[in-house]
Amino acid sequence: METMVNNIAIEKAKTSKIKDVDFDNLSFGSVYTDHMLVCDYKNGEWSAPKIVPYQPITLDPSAKIFHYGQSIFEGMKAYKDEDEKVWLFRPLENFKRLNKSAKRLAIPELPEAYFMEGLTALIQLESDWVPKNPGSSLYIRPFVFASGKGFHASPAGEYKFIIACAPSGAYFSGKVKVLIEQTYSRAANGGVGYAKAGGNYAGQFYPTQLAAEKGYQQVIWTDDNTHEFIEEAGAMNVFVRINDTLLTAPTNDRILDGITRKSILDIAKDEGIQIEVRKVSVHELVEAAKNGSLKEMFGAGTAAVVSPISAFGYEGVDYDLPELTDSYASRLKKRITDIQYNRAEDKFGWRHEVI
Ligand SMILES: Cc1ncc(COP(=O)(O)O)c(C=O)c1O
Repeated sequence: METMVNNIAIEKAKTSKIKDVDFDNLSFGSVYTDHMLVCDYKNGEWSAPKIVPYQPITLDPSAKIFHYGQSIFEGMKAYKDEDEKVWLFRPLENFKRLNKSAKRLAIPELPEAYFMEGLTALIQLESDWVPKNPGSSLYIRPFVFASGKGFHASPAGEYKFIIACAPSGAYFSGKVKVLIEQTYSRAANGGVGYAKAGGNYAGQFYPTQLAAEKGYQQVIWTDDNTHEFIEEAGAMNVFVRINDTLLTAPTNDRILDGITRKSILDIAKDEGIQIEVRKVSVHELVEAAKNGSLKEMFGAGTAAVVSPISAFGYEGVDYDLPELTDSYASRLKKRITDIQYNRAEDKFGWRHEVI
């Protein structure tokens, strides 16, 4: 049976899987909630979104997603506070970035109301699935792909926009050792690096596997032209602390404009931390590591929030970073997560109440 809630048609699942889930032992993104949001693009327009039971999708073998990779996604989280209220963090930024990615991949852009109202209705329906354990959250995966048929190499005529959710535990992988990439590139000038396009991640897997064989958990991507400037850390933006200055690369068409990155920059400014948004060269990093002024490196992104780096490898040499008791990484992570979980004042207006 279908009901309408705030313009969204909802077909409820007959039974819930929630009782089978061990909320004390959640991994990241591997169990899914009872419902998903689906919205179809056909005949030149997006239809109104619907919420349906979580289920597999049937596609024609000629669907263009399989052949030409028209696929984009977002990653965001819902957080539960002490009073069981559920919050999103800067969801409009994810909506804007999804449409930026859509445009670059010749995918029709989504109406804001379909994204925001659909997302809100889905999270309201699934609010019991938002975990309460410290550090855990409901990971939300909005994605759009070409479902339209045809072997002709041209944009599809039909697309699907889906939002699926996965209750997830705290993303803690410990400190990571990273390799500064000198051969492969994640993105190129004029390419799709700034879009959250599926193929960007497929292209990262092989160089990351090679780095793993050498004992590194992640790759630091450098610019494709010279491999002299650091750009991203795996699927995260990268920050470096030299003495007391926090540095990160300016965004460009090779770098994803991370929501965590820009929030960290605002918080750091608010904390009175000296910031420089500028190109950071590998040479500068090596020199700083040698003379002891390199204090910290960390990745920043929605999944891990802040992921500290213990050492970096470059031209066969490993450079260790010091253990700090009061690191920028831990300070900034605390400030941002306190806002996300409604434990602190939200002076930037980033929190978005769902229910
Ligand atoms: C390549 C890449 N860089 C950076 C980020 C961080 O972006 P955000 O902070 O919006 O999650 C992500 C994750 O979404 C990413 O995939």
